[in-house]
Amino acid sequence: MKRTLILTAVGLMCLGGAANAQGAPEALVKARQAGMILSGNVVGGLKAAIDAGQAPASQRGAVRGLARWAHTLPELFPEGTDPDTVDTGARPAVWTDRDGFNAKAAEFSAAVDRLSELSQGEDAAAFSAQWGVVRAGCQSCHDVYKD
Ligand code: HEC
Repeated sequence: MKRTLILTAVGLMCLGGAANAQGAPEALVKARQAGMILSGNVVGGLKAAIDAGQAPASQRGAVRGLARWAHTLPELFPEGTDPDTVDTGARPAVWTDRDGFNAKAAEFSAAVDRLSELSQGEDAAAFSAQWGVVRAGCQSCHDVYKD
Protein backbone atom coordinates (compact mmCIF):
# COMPACT_ATOMS: atom_id res chain seq x y z
CA MET A 1 0.00 0.00 0.00
CA LYS A 2 2.70 2.44 1.02
CA ARG A 3 4.81 1.37 -1.92
CA THR A 4 1.85 2.06 -4.20
CA LEU A 5 1.53 5.53 -2.74
CA ILE A 6 5.19 6.24 -3.28
CA LEU A 7 5.15 4.95 -6.83
CA THR A 8 2.08 7.07 -7.47
CA ALA A 9 3.87 10.10 -6.07
CA VAL A 10 6.95 9.48 -8.18
CA GLY A 11 4.73 8.96 -11.24
CA LEU A 12 2.92 12.21 -10.57
CA MET A 13 6.22 14.01 -10.25
CA CYS A 14 7.33 12.64 -13.62
CA LEU A 15 4.07 13.82 -15.11
CA GLY A 16 4.65 17.19 -13.48
CA GLY A 17 8.09 17.46 -15.03
CA ALA A 18 6.80 16.50 -18.46
CA ALA A 19 3.91 18.92 -18.19
CA ASN A 20 6.28 21.66 -17.20
CA ALA A 21 8.50 21.04 -20.19
CA GLN A 22 5.43 21.41 -22.39
CA GLY A 23 4.41 24.61 -20.63
CA ALA A 24 1.42 23.42 -18.58
CA PRO A 25 2.03 25.04 -15.19
CA GLU A 26 -1.41 24.02 -13.88
CA ALA A 27 -0.53 20.34 -14.20
CA LEU A 28 2.74 20.86 -12.35
CA VAL A 29 0.91 22.64 -9.54
CA LYS A 30 -1.59 19.75 -9.28
CA ALA A 31 1.25 17.23 -9.28
CA ARG A 32 3.19 19.00 -6.53
CA GLN A 33 0.01 19.37 -4.45
CA ALA A 34 -0.69 15.65 -4.91
CA GLY A 35 2.89 14.84 -3.92
CA MET A 36 2.45 16.95 -0.79
CA ILE A 37 -0.77 15.13 0.14
CA LEU A 38 0.87 11.75 -0.50
CA SER A 39 3.91 12.74 1.55
CA GLY A 40 1.50 13.47 4.39
CA ASN A 41 0.15 9.93 4.05
CA VAL A 42 3.67 8.53 4.17
CA VAL A 43 4.53 10.56 7.28
CA GLY A 44 1.30 9.38 8.93
CA GLY A 45 2.10 5.78 8.01
CA LEU A 46 5.55 6.10 9.55
CA LYS A 47 4.02 7.39 12.77
CA ALA A 48 1.55 4.48 12.88
CA ALA A 49 4.42 2.03 12.38
CA ILE A 50 6.49 3.70 15.12
CA ASP A 51 3.55 3.64 17.52
CA ALA A 52 2.93 -0.02 16.70
CA GLY A 53 6.56 -0.81 17.65
CA GLN A 54 7.57 -1.89 14.14
CA ALA A 55 11.27 -2.00 13.32
CA PRO A 56 12.75 1.01 11.46
CA ALA A 57 13.84 -1.34 8.67
CA SER A 58 10.20 -2.10 7.89
CA GLN A 59 9.85 1.55 6.79
CA ARG A 60 12.84 1.70 4.47
CA GLY A 61 10.83 1.84 1.25
CA ALA A 62 8.50 4.56 2.51
CA VAL A 63 11.42 6.69 3.71
CA ARG A 64 13.30 6.21 0.46
CA GLY A 65 10.31 7.55 -1.47
CA LEU A 66 9.98 10.48 0.89
CA ALA A 67 13.68 11.31 0.51
CA ARG A 68 13.47 11.30 -3.25
CA TRP A 69 10.44 13.58 -3.11
CA ALA A 70 12.17 15.92 -0.64
CA HIS A 71 15.13 16.40 -2.95
CA THR A 72 12.89 17.44 -5.87
CA LEU A 73 11.04 20.19 -3.98
CA PRO A 74 12.92 23.27 -5.23
CA GLU A 75 12.49 22.15 -8.87
CA LEU A 76 8.72 21.78 -8.43
CA PHE A 77 8.25 25.53 -7.90
CA PRO A 78 9.62 27.05 -11.13
CA GLU A 79 8.85 30.52 -12.50
CA GLY A 80 5.32 30.67 -13.91
CA THR A 81 3.76 28.58 -11.13
CA ASP A 82 3.28 31.46 -8.66
CA PRO A 83 -0.06 32.81 -7.36
CA ASP A 84 -0.06 35.72 -9.82
CA THR A 85 -0.04 33.23 -12.69
CA VAL A 86 -1.87 30.07 -11.52
CA ASP A 87 -4.17 28.84 -8.78
CA THR A 88 -1.78 27.69 -6.06
CA GLY A 89 -1.55 27.55 -2.29
CA ALA A 90 2.09 28.64 -2.46
CA ARG A 91 2.81 32.17 -1.27
CA PRO A 92 4.64 34.71 -3.45
CA ALA A 93 7.53 34.45 -0.96
CA VAL A 94 8.57 31.19 -2.64
CA TRP A 95 9.68 33.32 -5.60
CA THR A 96 10.60 36.58 -3.88
CA ASP A 97 12.67 34.80 -1.22
CA ARG A 98 13.98 31.88 -3.26
CA ASP A 99 17.12 31.42 -1.12
CA GLY A 100 14.99 31.11 2.02
CA PHE A 101 12.67 28.61 0.36
CA ASN A 102 15.56 26.52 -0.95
CA ALA A 103 17.13 26.58 2.53
CA LYS A 104 13.90 25.20 4.07
CA ALA A 105 13.77 22.52 1.38
CA ALA A 106 17.43 21.63 2.05
CA GLU A 107 16.82 21.41 5.80
CA PHE A 108 13.85 19.17 5.18
CA SER A 109 15.65 16.85 2.78
CA ALA A 110 18.62 16.60 5.19
CA ALA A 111 16.18 15.57 7.94
CA VAL A 112 14.64 12.92 5.68
CA ASP A 113 18.10 11.67 4.63
CA ARG A 114 18.95 11.19 8.31
CA LEU A 115 15.68 9.29 8.80
CA SER A 116 16.66 7.16 5.83
CA GLU A 117 20.03 6.34 7.44
CA LEU A 118 18.25 5.42 10.65
CA SER A 119 15.92 3.12 8.73
CA GLN A 120 19.01 1.04 7.91
CA GLY A 121 19.63 0.43 11.63
CA GLU A 122 17.77 -0.85 14.66
CA ASP A 123 17.57 2.20 16.91
CA ALA A 124 13.79 2.64 17.14
CA ALA A 125 14.03 5.52 19.63
CA ALA A 126 16.36 7.52 17.36
CA PHE A 127 14.12 6.75 14.38
CA SER A 128 11.09 8.00 16.28
CA ALA A 129 12.88 11.19 17.41
CA GLN A 130 14.02 11.89 13.85
CA TRP A 131 10.45 11.39 12.63
CA GLY A 132 9.61 14.40 14.83
CA VAL A 133 12.34 16.46 13.14
CA VAL A 134 10.95 15.56 9.70
CA ARG A 135 7.40 16.43 10.73
CA ALA A 136 8.60 19.77 12.10
CA GLY A 137 10.31 20.42 8.75
CA CYS A 138 6.93 20.25 6.95
CA GLN A 139 5.48 22.81 9.35
CA SER A 140 8.49 25.09 9.32
CA CYS A 141 8.26 25.54 5.55
CA HIS A 142 4.47 25.91 5.55
CA ASP A 143 4.64 28.65 8.20
CA VAL A 144 6.44 30.89 5.72
CA TYR A 145 5.68 29.65 2.21
CA LYS A 146 2.19 28.12 2.19
CA ASP A 147 -1.22 29.81 2.52
C1 HEC B 1 10.22 23.54 1.45
C2 HEC B 1 8.84 23.81 1.75
C3 HEC B 1 7.86 22.71 2.06
C4 HEC B 1 8.08 21.54 2.74
C5 HEC B 1 9.37 21.03 3.37
C6 HEC B 1 6.82 20.86 2.78
N1 HEC B 1 5.86 21.58 2.15
FE1 HEC B 1 3.90 21.05 1.94
N2 HEC B 1 3.59 22.71 0.82
C7 HEC B 1 4.51 23.68 0.53
C8 HEC B 1 3.94 24.65 -0.37
C9 HEC B 1 4.64 25.89 -0.92
C10 HEC B 1 2.61 24.23 -0.63
C11 HEC B 1 1.59 24.86 -1.59
C12 HEC B 1 1.72 24.12 -2.94
C13 HEC B 1 0.77 24.61 -4.00
O1 HEC B 1 -0.45 24.78 -3.70
O2 HEC B 1 1.22 24.83 -5.13
C14 HEC B 1 2.43 23.00 0.16
C15 HEC B 1 1.23 22.30 0.22
C16 HEC B 1 0.99 21.22 1.04
C17 HEC B 1 -0.30 20.57 1.22
C18 HEC B 1 -1.62 21.01 0.57
C19 HEC B 1 -1.80 20.30 -0.75
C20 HEC B 1 -3.15 20.66 -1.37
O3 HEC B 1 -3.18 21.46 -2.31
O4 HEC B 1 -4.17 20.14 -0.90
C21 HEC B 1 -0.10 19.53 2.08
C22 HEC B 1 -1.15 18.54 2.58
C23 HEC B 1 1.29 19.52 2.44
N3 HEC B 1 1.94 20.57 1.80
C24 HEC B 1 1.87 18.59 3.28
C25 HEC B 1 3.25 18.54 3.54
C26 HEC B 1 3.87 17.54 4.38
C27 HEC B 1 3.14 16.42 5.09
C28 HEC B 1 5.21 17.83 4.39
C29 HEC B 1 6.31 17.09 5.09
C30 HEC B 1 6.35 15.68 4.92
C31 HEC B 1 5.41 19.02 3.58
N4 HEC B 1 4.20 19.42 3.08
C32 HEC B 1 6.63 19.62 3.39
C33 HEC B 1 5.80 23.74 1.01
C34 HEC B 1 6.44 22.72 1.70
